[in-house]
Amino acid sequence: MNKTIAIVGLGYVGLPLAHAFAKKGNRVIGYDISEERITNLNSGEDWTNELTREQLEGVSIEFSANPAILGNADVIIVALPTPIDENNKPDIAILKAGTETVGKNMKDGAIVVFESTVYPGTTEEICGGILKEASGGKSFKLGYSPERINPGDKEHTVTKILKIVAGEDDETTDTLCNLYKSIIEAGVHKASSIKVAEMAKAIENAQRDLNIAFVNEIAQMCNKLGIASKDVFDAAKTKWNFLPFQPGLVGGHCIGVDPYYLVEKAKQLGMDTHVITAGRSVNDQMGAYVASLVTDELGDPNGKRVLVLGITFKENVPDRRNSKSGDVIKALEAKGCDVEVHDPFFDDSEIEKLGFKPGKLMNGPYDAVMLLVTHSDYFNGYPQNLLGSLKEGGIFFDLKSLMDRKAVEREGYRYLAL
Ligand SMILES: NC(=O)c1ccc[n+]([C@@H]2O[C@H](COP(=O)([O-])OP(=O)(O)OC[C@H]3O[C@@H](n4cnc5c(N)ncnc54)[C@H](O)[C@@H]3O)[C@@H](O)[C@H]2O)c1
Repeated sequence: MNKTIAIVGLGYVGLPLAHAFAKKGNRVIGYDISEERITNLNSGEDWTNELTREQLEGVSIEFSANPAILGNADVIIVALPTPIDENNKPDIAILKAGTETVGKNMKDGAIVVFESTVYPGTTEEICGGILKEASGGKSFKLGYSPERINPGDKEHTVTKILKIVAGEDDETTDTLCNLYKSIIEAGVHKASSIKVAEMAKAIENAQRDLNIAFVNEIAQMCNKLGIASKDVFDAAKTKWNFLPFQPGLVGGHCIGVDPYYLVEKAKQLGMDTHVITAGRSVNDQMGAYVASLVTDELGDPNGKRVLVLGITFKENVPDRRNSKSGDVIKALEAKGCDVEVHDPFFDDSEIEKLGFKPGKLMNGPYDAVMLLVTHSDYFNGYPQNLLGSLKEGGIFFDLKSLMDRKAVEREGYRYLAL
């Protein structure tokens, strides 16, 4: 008999998963606390842009903001946000509240699987306890299966990424492996325990963070040496085992956040995390560093017109969570620059609501244009559209080193990159 599957939290992770299960003909319930999200999904709109209208309308999912609907599910998959607070401490309040809702509404014998990124021990020691108490003694089984999607990536979608799966006992693990295998074309990896699966997810992103921190530090050193970091990396990556990471701003809900979950767990274990913490501190100050490259080059930055392009955490997504563009803007403003901001995913009134002054390439000439997020929109009419908005001798800042430095300089502009 097919199982009824409920997804709790219909964001970047939960919605594509609900769709994948529904596409295979399962009965799928989608529960979200946000009435607005449910209304939008019921009318075929996904503001995360992960699913198209055709995809949403092509499957049957029972969307609801009423948690009582969870009582119909055999398997409940929790995909709730796990952010950090202003002191970079893990904030699992949403996860705890959602778990309590699940506990109050689940049926006896349900399997509850967590997909949220957490520190090891959260599923069994924290969520398990909440479920036990909230359910008033109902029986249930626990599972953990981390999500590894990459928002905006239309190639590595949920069914194409191998899934790590763990249950609290062999029977639950096998049931969950079979369930996920039915939708994940890339297959599943059976982890030896829930804690192993939790730890594996956390270290994947921490490793990426550290690799980026390393190239960020090297980029700063290259800058002091007066050489282009891109040229250095292009040369170094000709060795077979050099890892080709790119310097940049680390934002978003994963890479810049998950290492702090490891740091917290290490603290609980009475251990210091020198390497993980060092990576975080390098990457967290990159916004201010990027701004300083431009303000140093502007001479007297006071009153200089700077256009910042891109305020999402990465290209071609509308997701602003932990975007570091805000750090760059703040640092430019602190030096007296007149900063204007553009992003194709936000109109002028939204930009204003975020506390920024809207601008656009057509409003030039600017003293500096900073391409922080390479949304494909910026490549219509490229590179004339970008360079044409600069004053003579103006600065083009190319975070990802996409442009040909010599070509920019030949046009009489100054070129800066990380
Ligand atoms: N975004 C990613 O690319 C990504 C990738 C891998 C793992 N993850 C992890 O997956 C988890 C979910 O992330 P996301 O990006 O999908 O989050 P999200 O913010 O996109 O979505 C979360 C959804 O949960 C809903 N919600 C909040 N509280 C609720 C509650 N009590 N009950 C029901 N719904 C509630 C929100 O309304 C929202 O729609 C996080 O732990 C994250 O670290 C995210």
